[in-house]
Amino acid sequence: MLSDSRLTIHRFAEGGDSNAFASDVRAGLSATRKALSPKYFYDELGSRLFEAICWLPEYYLTRAESEILRTHGDEIVSSVDGPVRLLELGSGSAEKTRFLIEALLSKQPQLHYLPVDISDSSLELSSQRLLRLYPGLRITGFAADYFTALQALALQVPADPGHRTVALFLGSNIGNFGRDESREFLRAVRKLLRPEDALLLGADLKKSPDILIPAYDDALGVTAAFNLNLLARINRELDGNFDVGKFRHRATYNDDLGKIEIHLVSVEPQVVSVRALDLQVEFDEGETISTENSYKFDLEQLSAIASDTGFALANTWFDRARLFSFNLFVAQENA
Ligand code: TRP
Repeated sequence: MLSDSRLTIHRFAEGGDSNAFASDVRAGLSATRKALSPKYFYDELGSRLFEAICWLPEYYLTRAESEILRTHGDEIVSSVDGPVRLLELGSGSAEKTRFLIEALLSKQPQLHYLPVDISDSSLELSSQRLLRLYPGLRITGFAADYFTALQALALQVPADPGHRTVALFLGSNIGNFGRDESREFLRAVRKLLRPEDALLLGADLKKSPDILIPAYDDALGVTAAFNLNLLARINRELDGNFDVGKFRHRATYNDDLGKIEIHLVSVEPQVVSVRALDLQVEFDEGETISTENSYKFDLEQLSAIASDTGFALANTWFDRARLFSFNLFVAQENA
């Protein structure tokens, strides 16, 4: 634990994490339908590649979100009676969060910000930067995956008396869960909150594949590099011998289910060994490893998700092109 007067970071990622990575990689590559968890994208290089994705012209999500926060940030913040403390799940570089931090600091002199991120280095860097920018800020961070962090928050972090908690779940992160998993996650968030606390949920909207596909398969190949870095990470951390040139990035849109499906495709038959796991993995030509799903939503789904998980959908904000949505979920009594 790192602690000075304005910054505390709780780390849950060390030690245990490399074992979790090892056992998840073993299970994922031994399955009949091979899969790797998207949470492993975000090592130090992967976190930087994702930040580069956010700058790509094709990745409309980040710009749409920033537009919403820039134009409606004050209104969003005013729709929850203050003072508040801000909890963010998957804070990353926390660039977008600055709009909300600024809106809040214009209404209250001090703000307690509680970011959670799987990447230790992102958490540390973004926290130091925010503290330099905003003297009224105090930060309690968690380097952990979501479920671990939610547990730790419930056990270790007392409510700030007289403050509402506003939880943020931005980006398209909710879309990366499966249908049941997203409900399970939101119920866990709801448990941590009290009635009248709120969750501001970013959700990408259903739209034409002509816009969706390039967002996940850009011309410069940054997204491909981000996806392939998972294999490179296995090479680095588990002494694997993946030839990343023998795999391709693939993004497809499943219109029926409203989801982008991301895979790595083996371009030829091959055998890969992961020495730290004492594991040999065979690939057929064209065989895939599923690495991520990104669900897209409509408003009907979002309000059903809210009421299924102990919230009410109180308000939705859009960018001008209606590509993306911000949804205010207010925690209900007796959930
Ligand atoms: N949460 C992001 C999203 O679904 C993650 C992401 C962006 C991503 N581009 C990707 C994941 C490409 C895998 C591959 O939009």
